[in-house]
Amino acid sequence: MSKIVFLSDLHLSPTHGFFWENFRLARDAADQAGAEAVVVNGDLCINGPDSDAEMDFARAALGKLRTPVLALPGNHDVGDEPPGQDLAQLVDEARLDRWDARFGTDRFALDAGAWRLIGVNAQLFGSGLEREREQWDWLEGRLIASSHRRIALVLHKPLFIEDEGETAETASCMTPGPRAALLALLRRHRVGLVISGHLHAERDRVVGGIRHLWLPALAFLGSGDHGGRPAVGAVVVDFAGAEASVMPLAVPPLAPHDLAAIKGHGRYRFLRDMPASPPPAEPASRPAAE
Ligand SMILES: [Fe+2]
Ligand SMILES: [Fe+2]
Repeated sequence: MSKIVFLSDLHLSPTHGFFWENFRLARDAADQAGAEAVVVNGDLCINGPDSDAEMDFARAALGKLRTPVLALPGNHDVGDEPPGQDLAQLVDEARLDRWDARFGTDRFALDAGAWRLIGVNAQLFGSGLEREREQWDWLEGRLIASSHRRIALVLHKPLFIEDEGETAETASCMTPGPRAALLALLRRHRVGLVISGHLHAERDRVVGGIRHLWLPALAFLGSGDHGGRPAVGAVVVDFAGAEASVMPLAVPPLAPHDLAAIKGHGRYRFLRDMPASPPPAEPASRPAAE
């Protein structure tokens, strides 16, 4: 078994259900993909940093998957690392505790085919929290122990937008200081692939000898202000060989939601500010997958 489904940027909420139908379609497709696991690469919620109910809702929604789930947090789950896009929602201990209470962990190591996937909490890099130091140590330990395999790093935010040396501090990707340290660590351990979400855009290219795969979102299209192609969807990655093979997840067409239109073209700053629009209630038990 070497196939892994990647879902990213679900943006689920019990009160703001704009993207529920896309998630439901992708979840059912993920269970039919014959994959070893489903990796959920962050932004499960809309207002996760401040809402127990949203985190509960996301956990319950993912709990309906029959395939094992490995979830990593995004900025809409535990908050941004500084400087962030919303000073009121920076990552902190209480927000990490809220995640831990539902998902148990914010990192994983998973073998698939010829590869070892190492998942980390992107929101810790540059946070200055004690847990950041601890994660660095954990990551280095996992890399040292994985030298016999091809290695892929999985995290919510991309390391950079266009090139490794860009200097802008932006919430769109990792900040320059932690990025340089992480890239040096990845190179020391010959990491071949980095898989990220967050920008709601597809991209697949090699920069400086490392392949960077951006995942499409389930919820809505990216702005297109960055490189890559704004996209909704999900992918299946086959890790059988020395090169990971990326295919679209076979899913009915997802609604290509336009974030600006949903937010009333400036009327609402954040999705959490929108009037309530709950998703349809789900049956207590899903019908069996075909
Ligand atoms: Fe997102
Ligand atoms: Fe994000």
